[in-house]
Order: sequence, then structure tokens, then C-alpha cells
Amino acid sequence: MVRYRHALLASVLLALPAPVVSQQPYNDWAKAYAAAEDLVGTWTRDQVANVSVYGGTAPGHVPFTAKDGPMGVNGGRGVSGWIAAQTLAASWDPELVEKQYGAMAREFRSKGYSMQLGPVTGPMGRSALGGRNFESFGSDPYLGGKLFGTAVRGIQNQSVIACGKHFIANEQETNRTTVGWGQDTDGTDRSSSNLDDRTFHELYIWPWVDGVVNGLGSVMCVMNRVNGTGGCENDYTLNQVLKKEVGFKGIVIPDATAPINRTAALAHGLDWNSGLDASAITALMDSGAVPEEVMRQHAIRIVATQLNHNLPQEQYPDPATVVNRNVREAESAPLTRAAAGQSIVLLKNTDQTLPLKNVTSISVFGLDAAQGVTGPAMVPNVFDYQGDTYAGHLASGGGSGATPMPYLVDPLTALTERAASGRGFEVRHIASDNYTVLPTGGPNIGGGPPDSVSGYASDSQYCMVFLNALAKEGVDRLALADETEDRLVNDVARYCANTIVVMNNAGIRLVEAWIEHPNVTAVLNAGALGQESGHAITDVLFGDVNPSGKLVYTIAKRVEDYNGEICPCCDCDYTEGLYTDYRHFDQAGIEPRFEFGYGLSYTNFTFGSLAISKKPSDNEPLAAYASGPTVDGGPAALFDELVTLTATVTNTGPVAGAAVAQLYLEFPESAKSPVQQLRGFRKVLLEPGQTQTVAFELQRRDVSIWDTVAQKWKVEAGTYTARLGGSSRDVAAEVEFELSTTGV
Ligand SMILES: *[C@@H]1O[C@H](CO)[C@@H](O)[C@H](O)[C@H]1NC(C)=O
Ligand SMILES: *[C@@H]1O[C@H](CO)[C@@H](O)[C@H](O)[C@H]1NC(C)=O
Ligand SMILES: *[C@@H]1O[C@H](CO)[C@@H](O)[C@H](O)[C@H]1NC(C)=O
Ligand SMILES: *[C@@H]1O[C@H](CO)[C@@H](O)[C@H](O)[C@H]1NC(C)=O
Ligand SMILES: *[C@@H]1O[C@H](CO)[C@@H](O)[C@H](O)[C@H]1NC(C)=O
Ligand SMILES: *[C@@H]1O[C@H](CO)[C@@H](O)[C@H](O)[C@H]1NC(C)=O
Ligand SMILES: *[C@@H]1O[C@H](CO)[C@@H](O)[C@H](O)[C@H]1NC(C)=O
Ligand SMILES: *[C@@H]1O[C@H](CO)[C@@H](O)[C@H](O)[C@H]1NC(C)=O
Ligand SMILES: *[C@@H]1O[C@H](CO)[C@@H](O)[C@H](O)[C@H]1NC(C)=O
Repeated sequence: MVRYRHALLASVLLALPAPVVSQQPYNDWAKAYAAAEDLVGTWTRDQVANVSVYGGTAPGHVPFTAKDGPMGVNGGRGVSGWIAAQTLAASWDPELVEKQYGAMAREFRSKGYSMQLGPVTGPMGRSALGGRNFESFGSDPYLGGKLFGTAVRGIQNQSVIACGKHFIANEQETNRTTVGWGQDTDGTDRSSSNLDDRTFHELYIWPWVDGVVNGLGSVMCVMNRVNGTGGCENDYTLNQVLKKEVGFKGIVIPDATAPINRTAALAHGLDWNSGLDASAITALMDSGAVPEEVMRQHAIRIVATQLNHNLPQEQYPDPATVVNRNVREAESAPLTRAAAGQSIVLLKNTDQTLPLKNVTSISVFGLDAAQGVTGPAMVPNVFDYQGDTYAGHLASGGGSGATPMPYLVDPLTALTERAASGRGFEVRHIASDNYTVLPTGGPNIGGGPPDSVSGYASDSQYCMVFLNALAKEGVDRLALADETEDRLVNDVARYCANTIVVMNNAGIRLVEAWIEHPNVTAVLNAGALGQESGHAITDVLFGDVNPSGKLVYTIAKRVEDYNGEICPCCDCDYTEGLYTDYRHFDQAGIEPRFEFGYGLSYTNFTFGSLAISKKPSDNEPLAAYASGPTVDGGPAALFDELVTLTATVTNTGPVAGAAVAQLYLEFPESAKSPVQQLRGFRKVLLEPGQTQTVAFELQRRDVSIWDTVAQKWKVEAGTYTARLGGSSRDVAAEVEFELSTTGV
């Protein structure tokens, strides 16, 4: 057995081992369920109870091993430092997402974990200040859902169960639970997300449907309450919606401290780890408080999920034995470097300042340019507020979603590498005027400019200011910009005609204090880029990578322009309804600084020839409501392809680059929907002069609204307008189509 394990581990690094002794993973829910029902049918009540307990075994069943978090093996050694989901989402590239999450999951597997507690699709970004927004795929449910589903597929393809987080309406950290684990009484001291049925379906349930369509094996229920009922004991959200309506077949597991009333949790949809021990659960079955049939269903789900997605648990190494093993693949650095480069958004580029040309000298400003004195890793403290900024290069957010950083290439290191190659150029760094041990402005023994911000700025061809914005689990942000950093940009720009700003932000970072300064000639929204951060940034600065990232949220001019405030305890009414992020800016007529979907390139693209290539015949009206048996994701008809649109994208500029063609849909007025909603995107790499045709397939789902009376997805009859462009406010072409329905 031991020898067999060793042989297996060696091959684990190269490829998925062929199932030898068993047909696991089944990759077929029906077969997995049939086998699970057979096995659980042989178990006593005690054994059934045991299997729902953390670590509990039963004949034929060894429990899965689960580990945080969504951005890699949290706190692990010998693993990679990945790109934060919100940052990676800016690539608008599902293939890249699948690659990152596949490689990440292989690290979980090699470290002995058969379940990854990730990826994240909530918080989605209802509040711009949300502390964990960096963990999910941006503020739009359509884009977020596509990328979340892709991440789920990427993880589970490696025989690791993905646990989607956080179900549901966990949009803020404030009052998500009582400070001090396990000290709750009745849960009324937890924030309750109160939201209407339509918003619940069209914004918050939406991306989970993509997870379930892609075979999602596990869902983590939330600490907060939803409409007054605890997130882990909520029969409506867990049983009626997730399991029945959406057709989720995996298991619901709790966030830390989530179950308030553990009996209610087991009775109302929580499958595993209620916090009760097996004898307590058996007693609940004896008294009828939780029917035995309900516990058997939990056990069947647990077993079926493992059979469907995992290899036999014995084939994962014992995590304790591989703590220090280096399981990084040789591809780790090139993959993270490339993915990070694709995720950077170019916000401003006056007179093509970038890519840099004929560099002679660069001065680098800001604490974010170099490693912090305390090292690159975040302090894993999820309780305290630790400031708006991080005193070192920021390449991750903090908390259970912090990426483990085996090493960190900071921008100063990457610039220094370039300066040291060939004939090179000069590089100097100063964090700020008051972070130096020398008296500022004093004589410089070696000659050259005074060691001060103004001294360096006045004497450099290029000035690069590095800023960051820290966000982490456990607390929400207090600000979206930092005055000290903003002052540094203005201090540099006053003396330097070529000031380039790079932002490493775990969430939205406002730019208003300096964006219009004529000497601020280029700006990168670089996000939280992981271990290869500095390389990825310099790849873009020097033009080895042509930036193709597009914003996955709106950058407002003022913090007041956002809605969805963090709510004080304990009732959090989602009064904004469907109008979050760009939906709100469109509806309220607020001019953003940089709109959702925005991002520049070193080349130019034109979008055109938008046409409808397939649509339902006018003579055969559609059924208004989605019907059919419940498949993975909902009623089968929801996934019918109803309308196909085609368009062309042309690279009209001087260099190769990738464009993101975006399709926004305006619904008929009677739908009372937001002004426009993203319903398609295609990323295409084009040589100069090259044109490519792209197709957008709209499913019934994409043209449906949630009918709160019928409790079904409904196609509203009328005129739809599809808009094609390079962002949510850059419309290159429009086309209308009619949909008629039978009304039933
Ligand atoms: C419950 O699981 C534990 C932990 O594996 C095991 O020691 C115990 O024998 C199991 N009890 C039953 C009734 O199966
Ligand atoms: C993983 O993906 C490959 C290629 O798409 C596929 O052939 C394979 O069956 C998948 N494996 C699992 C376990 O899903
Ligand atoms: C809600 O959160 C605030 C801020 O963290 C805290 O001061 C307060 O004690 C919390 N309220 C409750 C009821 O937990
Ligand atoms: C919350 O309550 C509202 C108002 O009663 C109801 O329409 C909605 O369906 C509920 N949503 C959830 C998720 O419980
Ligand atoms: C916990 O939930 C159960 C089942 O819903 C209920 O019978 C019991 O009264 C609840 N306990 C408390 C303390 O609220
Ligand atoms: C850069 O240097 C090359 C070769 O010396 C020269 O041809 C070119 O004009 C220079 N470009 C700029 C922008 O100065
Ligand atoms: C540097 O100076 C600014 C502005 O006076 C001040 O806000 C900041 O706290 C100072 N930082 C340090 C590290 O002394
Ligand atoms: C821009 O930089 C130049 C120095 O190159 C300086 O003379 C000028 O005043 C700066 N402009 C502004 C608006 O600060
Ligand atoms: C792209 O087009 C704009 C507007 O026509 C122009 O100002 C800019 O120079 C072009 N950029 C490139 C890289 O060709």
C-alpha cells in the first residue's frame, strides 16, 4: 500500500493518474448517487450520523480533507502565490481562469486536500467598501458567473471538490458574526441581508447557477442571516432554491461559526459539520427533531459528491506528512506571470507614454514598490482593521483568501533586473520623504540629485509611483483612496513630466486626486497579482505584454457615487435592488471616472457588423416561462439557445493585441430591468490589420427575468436592443430584435 502511494504521488505532479482500483471519480451524478444510495443503505443510524460529523467515518467511507482557500493553499508552504480572482477576472479570459484554478487544485491535491474551500462568487461587490470583494470575480453576475463556473470546472477536473463561497448575500464583513468565535446566542446580533425575490434571483443566485451547471460539488453557507434567518439554517435558500430550484446535487457545509441553531441547520439543508457530535445527532433522530430520512439524505449527498469528484480518499497523501513538501510545478512562475500580465488594466496613456521607449532613468516612489520590512505575507488576522494601505508591495488581499507567497517579485526587483540587463538604465527608489534615515535634501556624497521625492522627480526621465489599497477578511474598508499616497503622486508629478502611476489594489481604488494632472501620463490598475507581480507589471510597462485587462467594476469619481453602503447592525436592506455597480451609474445618470468594461491597449480595435444570425421564428412564439425537468442549474429550457448574434473585431493599430468584445442587452420596457446588462463577451487576440468574427449565443436565461408571481424565469415579449462595444459606455453598434411569447 505504501509503495503504491509513492508511485501514485510521483505521477500526480505530471497528470491525473488513471483510476486504477475504482471508477472514482464517476463524473456522473446519476451513477454517483446510485452507488451512494447503495452504500448508505447498509449503514445504521449511528453510522449515518457519524458521516455528517467532521472527520467521521463509516464502513466504505473515509471523509474528504478540506482546506482554505480560494486563492491557493492558504498559509501553505511549497505552493504558488496566485492572482486574486477579482484581478484575474479583469482578463475576461475563461481559458486563463481554468488554467489557474486547475494548477491551483493540483497543489491542493498534492498537499493531501480533496476539497478546496473556494472559489468565491459572493461578495459580488454590492458595496465598494466590502472587505472581501477581491476574492470574487467582479461586480457583474453574468461575467462573475461565467468565470466562477469555469474556476469550478478547473478545480474539479483535478479530482478536488470545489466549495463555492459564500451562500448567500454575504456582501459585507461588518457584523457577519459576533466577534469571538462561537459566542452567539440567538443570532440576532448578526447582520441580516434583506432582499427582494427578483434581486435575489437575478443578481445573487445567478452566478451559482453557473457553478451548478459546471458540477459544483460543495457550497459554503454564510455566517450572516438572510431575511432574518441564519444562512446555514435557511430552508428557503438552501432547500427550496439551491437544491430544488437550481438542482444543486452536492453538499452544503458551514462557514466557521455559521450555524446558530444546529438542529435547525441539519433540519433545513446543512449537510455536514453542524458542530454537533454523532450521539447528539442520533438523539435528534430518536426524538424526531431531525427525521432519520433527512440525515440519510445528507449522508447520500456526502458520499455521492465524493464518488463523483474525488479519487478514493486513500489516494490523497495525509496532509500532515507533506507540510513542507514543495509541490509547485515548473509552470508555476510562467503561468502566474502570464496570467497576471493579462489581468492588468491600462487606465490612462497620454501620447503613448507606454510602452516605455529608450529608457535612460527611472525613479521609483512609494512603499508599494518594494517588499515590506515584515515580508510579503499578510498577517493572517481576520479580526482587526489594519489600515487602508499596506507598508510594502501588495500582491494579495488578506484573510482566508490570502494567497500563500512562496516568494514575491516586487516591481523594484523586476525593474532592477531590467536595468541590469544589457546596457540597461538607472533605477532609484525612495519610499517617501519621511521614510528615509537621511536628512532630506542634504548633500549627496556620491553626487546626483538630493535624496528626496522632489530631488529624484526633477532628475528622472520617468517617475513611477506605486500605490496600494489593502482589503481583507473580517473588516470592511474605510476608504477607497489614501491621502498620503495621493499626495505622493502629486508631489512627484509637480516635478516630473512623465509620471506613471501603478496601483496594486485589493478592490476599487479611486484616482480623482491626480488623474487629470497633465504630468500623470500613464496609469495601471494592476490589482493583486500574486508571486510574479513585479514581472507582470514590467512586462506591461516595457511592452512585452500588450495590456488587455478590462475593469470588472466601475471606478467612480467620488465615494458617494456608489450605493450599497455597509450597513450597521442588524438589518441590511438591499433597497438598491438590481441597481449595483454600472446598473446604478446607468440608472442614476452618474458619470463614472472609468466605466465597467473599460481598459486601453497599445493598439486600437474597431467593433462592427453586429447582426442576428439566429432567432426564434416570429410564427412560433416562445413559451413565456422556462419549463422542463430540473437539470443542473434549473429547468432544462433555461439553457436553450434562443438568439445568436455575430460581430467583427478588427485590430486597426500598429501591434498585436487582445480585444474584449462586450455585448450589453437592453430589455423591453415592460421588463423593468436595468438600462443594460452584460450578456456576452469574447476575448480575441489579433495581429495588426486582422479581423475576426465572434459569435454571442444568448440562452433563454440571458433574455429572462424572474417573475415573482409565477416563481419562474420569464421571457418578456417585446423589443430587445443588443449593444456591442469595448466597454459598458463605448457603443460601436446596436441591433434590435423582437421576441414574442404565448404568455404561458
Ligand atoms: C465515527 O467516526 C470516528 C472517526 O473516524 C470513528 O472513530 C468511529 O468509529 C465512527 N463511529 C461509528 C459509529 O461509525
Ligand atoms: C479533465 O479535463 C480533460 C480535458 O478536458 C478531460 O479529458 C478529463 O476527463 C477531465 N477530468 C476530470 C476528472 O474531469
Ligand atoms: C457590529 O459591528 C461593529 C463594528 O465592528 C461593532 O462595534 C459592534 O459591536 C457590532 N455589533 C454587534 C451587535 O455585534
Ligand atoms: C425575503 O423577503 C422578501 C419579502 O418578504 C421576499 O419577497 C423574498 O423572497 C425573501 N427572500 C429570501 C431570500 O428569503
Ligand atoms: C432550534 O431549532 C429547532 C428546530 O427548528 C427548534 O425546535 C428549537 O426550538 C430551536 N432552538 C432554539 C434555542 O431556538
Ligand atoms: C529611440 O531610439 C531609437 C534608436 O536610437 C530611435 O530611432 C528612436 O527615434 C528613439 N525613440 C524615441 C521615442 O526617442
Ligand atoms: C509622512 O508624512 C505624512 C504627511 O506629513 C504623514 O501623514 C505620515 O504619517 C508620515 N509617515 C511617516 C512614516 O512618518
Ligand atoms: C510638470 O512637470 C514639469 C517638470 O518637467 C513642471 O515644470 C511642470 O510645472 C509640471 N506641471 C504641473 C502642472 O505641475
Ligand atoms: C488609437 O486611436 C486613437 C483615436 O483615434 C488615437 O489617438 C491613438 O493614437 C491610437 N492609438 C494607437 C496605439 O494607434
